[in-house]
Amino acid sequence: MAPKSISQLFDLTGKGAIVTGAGMGLGQAIALRLAEAGASVMVTDINMEAAGTTVEQIRAGGGTAESIEADAARAADAEKVVQATVDAFGRLDILVNNAGIFSFAPPMQMQEETWDRTLDINLKGMFFNAQAAAREMIKAGRGGKIVNMASMDGVHPTRLELVHYNASKGGVIMLTKALALELGPHNILVNAVSPGPIMTPGSAAMAESLQARGAPLDELTVRFWERLPLGRMGEPDDVATVALFLASAAADYMTGSIVLVDGGYLLT
Ligand SMILES: NC(=O)c1ccc[n+]([C@@H]2O[C@H](COP(=O)([O-])OP(=O)(O)OC[C@H]3O[C@@H](n4cnc5c(N)ncnc54)[C@H](O)[C@@H]3O)[C@@H](O)[C@H]2O)c1
Repeated sequence: MAPKSISQLFDLTGKGAIVTGAGMGLGQAIALRLAEAGASVMVTDINMEAAGTTVEQIRAGGGTAESIEADAARAADAEKVVQATVDAFGRLDILVNNAGIFSFAPPMQMQEETWDRTLDINLKGMFFNAQAAAREMIKAGRGGKIVNMASMDGVHPTRLELVHYNASKGGVIMLTKALALELGPHNILVNAVSPGPIMTPGSAAMAESLQARGAPLDELTVRFWERLPLGRMGEPDDVATVALFLASAAADYMTGSIVLVDGGYLLT
């Protein structure tokens, strides 16, 4: 078979996609890129105003999108989202498991609710969203792509009171590899993106909360920047283009890979 052209490789016309937590930040940027490549995108979020903004932006660009309220932590919501996607677009080919939360919590004062909510959204929910999507993909028999949002914090603890977050993202990395092994025979490819520091509403809120607690934000920022060979924080689109690649035919022989998008942070 002749190799596909560049435009064919990245053409997602006719595909149905779900992006969880796509109301803002990385999820929004990914939803926009998938839609630009031609996919019909189901935008899920717990914040429906934000989800509506993403849908509006996609439609304004000529793309197709719908939104649905869904808590990424809940298995029942995952089933609901898959059904709504198939009802709306006729098929499901791509799941981007993006929704995740990150809040500072000193390990010695960690509340059980903080631990549970973080692990429920960031790890448990990721599994059940993948399970619901994979069931549909297996039923349809066309294979599919699952892209999980990990983090450089999944391999590197940052000493920023993020023990629960580090543990959840370490789990995402192993979840990605284990699912890739299980789902490979169905031609469902499972990969993860591991971003470094990216400017999003979530990371801005985190910086503000550090500042509110009187943390030496300037000092921390300098420490962070010194570790960034590219000399800048990432933009959401720096991650979205990599997620698009993993969701596209350009990555048809990749599964179980964890792609670091960290501006070189972990090199130093
Ligand atoms: N921003 C970074 O620097 C960075 C770095 C590494 C990894 N990540 C990961 O990327 C993902 C997105 O991060 P972000 O910075 O864009 O976050 P963000 O806080 O800016 O946006 C997150 C979106 O997810 C939604 N959301 C939150 N809880 C949800 C739930 N239970 N169900 C459905 N939607 C929910 C929010 O309403 C929001 O629209 C997360 O998994 C995060 O851990 C971010």
